[in-house]
Amino acid sequence: MLTLTGIGKSFGGVVAVHNVSLTISAGEVCGLIGPNGAGKSTLVNLISGVMSCSEGQITLANQSINRVNAHNRARIGIARTFQNLRVFPSLSVAQNIDVARYRGTQDPIVDAAIEVFDLKDKLSTPASVLSYGHLRRLEIVRALALTPKVLMLDEPAAGMNEHETQTLGQSLEWVSSESDCALLVIDHDLKFIMSLCKRIFVLNMGELIAEGTPKEITRNQMVVDAYLGEEHEKAASTA
Ligand SMILES: Nc1ncnc2c1ncn2[C@@H]1O[C@H](COP(=O)(O)OP(=O)(O)O)[C@@H](O)[C@H]1O
Ligand SMILES: [Mg+2]
Repeated sequence: MLTLTGIGKSFGGVVAVHNVSLTISAGEVCGLIGPNGAGKSTLVNLISGVMSCSEGQITLANQSINRVNAHNRARIGIARTFQNLRVFPSLSVAQNIDVARYRGTQDPIVDAAIEVFDLKDKLSTPASVLSYGHLRRLEIVRALALTPKVLMLDEPAAGMNEHETQTLGQSLEWVSSESDCALLVIDHDLKFIMSLCKRIFVLNMGELIAEGTPKEITRNQMVVDAYLGEEHEKAASTA
């Protein structure tokens, strides 16, 4: 459904992403992990069109979208949230969601998502007074209101406690069960990523160094060396 072929991005002399090729199928729940500065956010920026590729091709349903701008990529089904929250603070929760809804269409999943993500009794609350956890969830529901084919979440569990993270994971599983929307989730919380995602991509210094099931990833020596560290290897081997 979404295919990247040899994509890359350089900022002056800094190669942030290099030669990344991968495919995400409809409905797939994928993780994207790697050390700070590995290029994860840049990859999401390239897919969502916030930044243009220095190299490579991106196709959605076999159509090249390299020349489609970010706004139109969102319209054709590529939605994302940001590592730094971007909601309209003076608008209510309901208004923030309505901004993203297509005129005339009322996807029932959005109304259900408002409940699942615990925003129902916050609909008239201005976004500026929401708790951090609610803001994060508002961003996700707002992205879902675009009825995306793929939804990319940049560190959705950052700043959440263990219970909130677990609830978020359940809500995202609900999204996956109720729609064909593929998810690409970036996070440093490996427990969260490993339990949610069926397939995980690992970036290191801009390059895709591994892809596989959570089990394959925890046992991959290159991934352990680059990111997971020995503690994780031990934990995995005794699990
Ligand atoms: N707008 C930018 N201008 C210059 N360098 C950038 C920019 N965005 C990211 N980079 C650099 O690209 C590399 C990858 O960053 P990023 O994609 O944010 O990594 P991650 O999300 O994995 O932590 C880093 O070296 C970062 O400093
Ligand atoms: Mg990042």
